[in-house]
This record gives sequence, C-alpha cells and structure tokens, in this order.
Amino acid sequence: MDKSLVILKVSSLCCLLLGFGIIIEAAPEVSLITSLPGFNGTFPSKHYSGYVTINGNPDPPKNLFYYFVVSERNPSNDPVVLWLNGGPGCSSFDGFIYEHGPFNFEGGNPKGSLPKLHLNPYSWSKVSNIIYLESPAGVGFSYSKNTTVYTTGDLQTASDTHNFLLEWFNLYPEFVSNPFYISGESYAGVYVPTLASQVVKGIKAGEKPIINFKGYMIGNGVTDEIFDGNALVPFAHGMALISDGIFEEVVIACKGNYSDPPNNNCQTALDKVYGAIAGLNIYDILEPCYHGPTTKEDTNVVNKSSIPSSFKQLGMTEKPHAVRKRIYGRAWPFQAPVKAGIVPMWPELMKQTSFSVPCVDDTVATIWMNNDAVREAMHVSQEIGTWSLCASDISYYHDAGSMIPYHKNLTAQGYRALIFSGDHDMCVPYTGSEAWTRSLGHKIVDEWRAWMSNQQVAGYTQGYDIGLTFLTIKGAGHTVPEYKPRESLDFYSRWLDGKQI
Ligand SMILES: *[C@@H]1O[C@H](CO)[C@@H](O)[C@H](O)[C@H]1NC(C)=O
Ligand SMILES: *[C@@H]1O[C@H](CO)[C@@H](O)[C@H](O)[C@H]1NC(C)=O
Ligand SMILES: *[C@@H]1O[C@H](CO)[C@@H](O)[C@H](O)[C@H]1NC(C)=O
Ligand SMILES: *[C@@H]1O[C@H](CO)[C@@H](O)[C@H](O)[C@H]1NC(C)=O
Ligand SMILES: *[C@@H]1O[C@H](CO)[C@@H](O)[C@H](O)[C@H]1NC(C)=O
Repeated sequence: MDKSLVILKVSSLCCLLLGFGIIIEAAPEVSLITSLPGFNGTFPSKHYSGYVTINGNPDPPKNLFYYFVVSERNPSNDPVVLWLNGGPGCSSFDGFIYEHGPFNFEGGNPKGSLPKLHLNPYSWSKVSNIIYLESPAGVGFSYSKNTTVYTTGDLQTASDTHNFLLEWFNLYPEFVSNPFYISGESYAGVYVPTLASQVVKGIKAGEKPIINFKGYMIGNGVTDEIFDGNALVPFAHGMALISDGIFEEVVIACKGNYSDPPNNNCQTALDKVYGAIAGLNIYDILEPCYHGPTTKEDTNVVNKSSIPSSFKQLGMTEKPHAVRKRIYGRAWPFQAPVKAGIVPMWPELMKQTSFSVPCVDDTVATIWMNNDAVREAMHVSQEIGTWSLCASDISYYHDAGSMIPYHKNLTAQGYRALIFSGDHDMCVPYTGSEAWTRSLGHKIVDEWRAWMSNQQVAGYTQGYDIGLTFLTIKGAGHTVPEYKPRESLDFYSRWLDGKQI
C-alpha cells in the first residue's frame, strides 16, 4: 500500500489572472470593512483588510493580503495575534471561516446563494486582536505581478512575513506596544518558529518598529521528520486501529524507526499498519470520510470518477461534519513526514495519482471568497483570479530543517510556547508533538493532568519550565477550533492571559 494514500480533491482551478492593466503599487492604506455580504448585524469590533506591499529590492514586490479583526474586549491592552494556516500553500481564511473567526457560516450553494453569517460566540477576537495573513505570495488573495516569486521556501517566507509585520505595525502604530504572539497549525508548525526566529533577530538588531513579541502557539504542527514520522504507529495502536500483534511486529521489525524503514520486514509490517488505517479520515479518525457529492443539490466540486469505487460508498450514510464535509489540502503531510526539499502541492499530487480520498469539504469558503461583492467589501485586488483554499501555482521548498533547534532557542530566550494538539488527528498525531516537546529536556513544572472547560475534562496538559506547555484537546481533529470551539477559546484566552489552563 502506498504511503501517500490520501490525496484530496481540488475544488476549483486556481489561477491568478495576472492582468496587464496598469496598477500602481501605491502605499498601502488602512482599510475599514463596513459591511460583508451575508451579514446583517452590527460588527462587534472594527474589521480591516487590505494589502501590505513588500518591496524586497531587488526582488519583485509582493502584495500580501491580511484581514484584521480588532478585539471585542479591550483592543488597546489585548494581545495582537498573527494566525497562519499551513499547507504549505493554504489560505489563512481556513482559520477565519472554519475555525475561530468572528463569523459562523450557514448554508451557501454553489449555484449562487451566499452563506449567511452569524456572530461566532467563540471567536478568538473575543479576547485578542487577530490578523489572518495570506502567505506566502501566490496563496489566497496574496500575489505578485512577477510570478517568479512563487517559487519560495521556509526561510524566504519567514523573512517576507517579518517584513510584512514591520510594515503592518507601521500602518497600525496604536498596536505596536501590545503583546504580540504568532500562531498557526499544521505546516505552520514550520512557519511559526521560523518567523519567530526572524522577529527575534529583528528585535535584537533594533529594527523599527520594535515588535513586543512574547511567544507562539502551534496546533498539530509539522516539526521534525523523525518525531513526526514515528508518531503514527503508537497513535494507531493507542487508538485501537491496529492490533497488539501488528504493533509488536512493527516495533520489532522497525526498531522504532518508522520514518525511514531500515529493512523489508519493517516495510511489510508498516504496510499492515497503512492497510488498517486506509479509508479513515486522517484529520479526525472519528469523523466519516466524505466522498464528494452524492446528490443533485450537492456541489460538483468533486469529480467522482477519480475516486475508487470502493471508497465512494464509505461514510455515505453517516452524518456530515457539522461544519463541513471535506477538508481539502489542509496540511502536508498525509501520513508521511515532511522531508527537506520541494513539498508537492496538493493539486499537483492529485494530477499524479488515481488514488484520491477527499475526506473533507471547502465549498462554503470557495463560494464566499469568489463572490464579487464579498471581494469588493474586503478590498481584494481585481488582479486575483479564482480563490482556492490551497494554491496550486507556488513551488515551495522545505529548507529550514527540523524545528527542534528553533524551539530550543526560542524557549531558552524566554518566549512562551503553547504546543497544542487535537488528539484524534492522524495527520500530525499528538504522539509526535508530545514526544518532541518532552525531548527538549525542560523540567516538568505541571505534571500531566486534565484541564477543564465547561466543567468537563477537555484534554490533558503538561507544563515545562521556561514557558513551554503541551496541551491535548480531547476528541478534536487536525483543525482544533473547528471541532472544539468553546474549549479552544478557553485554552486560548487562559494561555494569552497568563493564567493556568
Ligand atoms: C438580511 O436582511 C435581508 C432583508 O431584510 C434578508 O432578505 C436576508 O435574509 C437577511 N440575511 C440574514 C443573514 O439574516
Ligand atoms: C521577475 O523577477 C525576476 C527576479 O526575481 C527577474 O529576473 C525578472 O526579470 C522579472 N520579470 C519581469 C517580467 O519583471
Ligand atoms: C532510521 O533508518 C535510517 C536508514 O537506515 C537511518 O539513516 C536513520 O538514522 C534511522 N533513524 C533512527 C532514528 O534510527
Ligand atoms: C471527471 O474526470 C474524468 C477522467 O479524468 C473526465 O473524463 C471527466 O470529464 C471528468 N468529469 C467532470 C464533470 O469534470
Ligand atoms: C540558535 O542559537 C544559536 C546561538 O545563538 C545560533 O548559533 C543558532 O543559529 C540558532 N539556531 C536557530 C535554528 O535559530
């Protein structure tokens, strides 16, 4: 069985229509959003969106799109948090629409009707000022007129995002003294520490404005080839997805080295593991795996003929996920660790393979983000073609290596870190995050214990000295706030406020 067996389905062709119109790359302005199609109420706080242009002389300018939600509590004291979704190549509107943004999206139909927007009682803007950034250029609404910059990697992206932040704080100087945090999930497990490291370097070099950087948060984050690669087998065993017998066989044959099978016996044993978990929704093993439209009212985003017939029936009678049915392209890896070098984009992978298992759905986001009125309200450039959750036209290199040295440096310098993990995610399983946080060798100051939300056990946490916290969210999948919004706002606000979670 092929290891990279879960390939998701692109919903719309992504193409940046790079027009030839004369567009002046004007100094960016702060642009207030006064209304949004689908929302009839009053905004609980100010929302802004627009572009920050990075003039990376001699590199071509990059126009990075952000959506900024001001805190609904105390904007001048609450932290400013940058949110990044992963991929690489996926839009941070994933977080805005499906996870912890100010609105919940209801309905929406590809034949034209827009979803209705309701206020999200668990929005992270309840307690923080939050910036959703489309990154790197070529993703979502971010673009460059010279597409050579769409070939990029970890280090370039970190540097660009740092430049974005410096420019952004110049635009919003009233927020520069607020505590600043960087957050994200999945492949942002690479974006966040590399960016944090750039920000710290900038602070040390006295770059203005001085960012009041305090720490970072990562959910189900890609971190290290070995730790991530070794996480699946113990996860599958602990979750009763493989038998004791298969577990013993694979432990003996592979000697704990699953990321890089040392011999054929190990590969054979691993194939049994992959065989056992095939067909599960890797982003949440408890959720049904969605297989595209099965009725006429459904969308035509999935070409069913590309799905093996044995998979078409799976999960069909199951209840759809409360929020969405198909998550396409949320994260690399599927079940394989991210290796150094070029990271294949999802749409590319889909072209290469006949084996696609689209477990999840991005229909609502695709409808809303491609609506002209929505785009106008959000000040999106007319140069942008079809928005898709994950970009197909960037070439992305994983060139920063393991994140462990970054975490060591950052925590040693006193920056706080919250490493959280939905414990039913099989894409970046908690077993890897738990193991690498422990491996940093910090002293345990708050030994493994349950944490509570709404008077119920919401997961487990272990606190280490110098501000490192590992946290699980019980029953959550890969995109934690999507599954457990209330619990997520609880741990998020407690951690930001410096309280015990
Ligand atoms: C907003 O108001 C209009 C007109 O009153 C109505 O047709 C529409 O359904 C409302 N939308 C929402 C999201 O409530
Ligand atoms: C695009 O940028 C590259 C350098 O990154 C440069 O060599 C090339 O001439 C640029 N193309 C255009 C059309 O400006
Ligand atoms: C796993 O096996 C590969 C190939 O034999 C080897 O290069 C690597 O060092 C091993 N890793 C561990 C953690 O033993
Ligand atoms: C689905 O894919 C098949 C084979 O790739 C193709 O022949 C067919 O036209 C596609 N159908 C639609 C509706 O795109
Ligand atoms: C960690 O810090 C050391 C010493 O300051 C430095 O040499 C090294 O490059 C840093 N590594 C990373 C990944 O930031």
